[in-house]
Amino acid sequence: MIKPLVDVAQDFPILNRRINGHRLVWLDSAATSQKPESVIQTMDRFYHESNANVLRSVHTLADEATTAFTDARVKTAQFIRAGRPEEVIFTRGTTESLNLVARGYGDQAVNSGDEIVLSPMEHHSNIIPWQQLARRTGATLRYVELAQDGTITIDALERVIGPRTRIVALSRISNVLGTINPITEAAAMVHQHGGVMVVDGAQSVPHEATAVRELGADFLAFSGHKMCGPTGIGVLYGRMELLEAMEPVMFGGEMISYVDQETATWAEVPQKFEGGTPNIAGAVGLGAAIDYLAGVGMDAIHEHSRTLGELAFETLKSIPGVAVYGPARPHAAALAFNIDGVHPHDVAQVFDSLGVAIRAGHHCAQPLMHWLGVGSTARASFYLYNGQDDVSVLKEAILETKRFFQR
Ligand SMILES: Cc1ncc(COP(=O)(O)O)c(C=O)c1O
Repeated sequence: MIKPLVDVAQDFPILNRRINGHRLVWLDSAATSQKPESVIQTMDRFYHESNANVLRSVHTLADEATTAFTDARVKTAQFIRAGRPEEVIFTRGTTESLNLVARGYGDQAVNSGDEIVLSPMEHHSNIIPWQQLARRTGATLRYVELAQDGTITIDALERVIGPRTRIVALSRISNVLGTINPITEAAAMVHQHGGVMVVDGAQSVPHEATAVRELGADFLAFSGHKMCGPTGIGVLYGRMELLEAMEPVMFGGEMISYVDQETATWAEVPQKFEGGTPNIAGAVGLGAAIDYLAGVGMDAIHEHSRTLGELAFETLKSIPGVAVYGPARPHAAALAFNIDGVHPHDVAQVFDSLGVAIRAGHHCAQPLMHWLGVGSTARASFYLYNGQDDVSVLKEAILETKRFFQR
């Protein structure tokens, strides 16, 4: 019996809730994870005891807040094995991080006739910024072809990455198919042609140990809220020499070196990209989330997420009238499925009546829905507070949904 990796009742107060008379079963972590008590308390303590703006005043609280904020950057850099803390830029989340690279780096590095390589499984956040960049510069988007099970093969990468490729932007883990994509191989190919590898780590950083340089990522984007942290805080990691050459896109306080009436010069990285008052409590909360995840162990979390993802895949595959998407293995923690003849929103509604929270819709991946030949899917996603019991609940909820609509 696979148990949750943590003491769920003690660490995740929200998971003690009952929904419609049932134990809450949270199978929507790919949308956002629940928050452990330690993160909630750390943020609470910050506001109770140390709240002040950072990097400007000299009083005691400003000093405490600045230290807490700076420590969070150091922890985050260590968590993804960045070369130095300054390579971590705090943003609102993956979406903002990817927009920042597309604007700040893309506008300078990409020209007419250049190519940007994506995959059809990307989240809209990793498609639209590149569409917009292509429109601004005259570059062309090229999509890697997916294999039948939704995976990306090395051959397929070789067919689209070439001398004109300036940027390859891929998710490490798909939020729909649960695929784990060959980033290191894609990075080696694009580097050979002098381009850069942008990694959407929204679903991977919460679930596997990340070492940015080994991964081959020149840029890595992720969100705090999917990894036990608060909403409104995320990260863009970038290699220092790229960040130094990159232009800021948000202009205002704290991102400058010197300003006169006509001109301004920029602060050093990362302040250059963090104009205005940052999400200080969010960063502190992210630091606490990283402590929590590191305490459990990212290798254990990776193993657990895959085990539950693969078990759920196998379990659902064996139910007649249920379609599951993506590869059997390795399969990460997100699993998309459909029940014959039942709209995914109706599936989610029946599930909710049973206390089970899943997502239904296009998952911000309409090109992928098109590729799958469906308008939408249901999606269950697992994390460290789920166990085998929850896979059984998922199966039972599907059987109950089928009974309900057969009646
Ligand atoms: C793969 C992937 N990329 C990007 C995002 C966008 O993240 P955020 O909404 O936190 O900016 C998500 C969120 O669902 C995601 O799953």
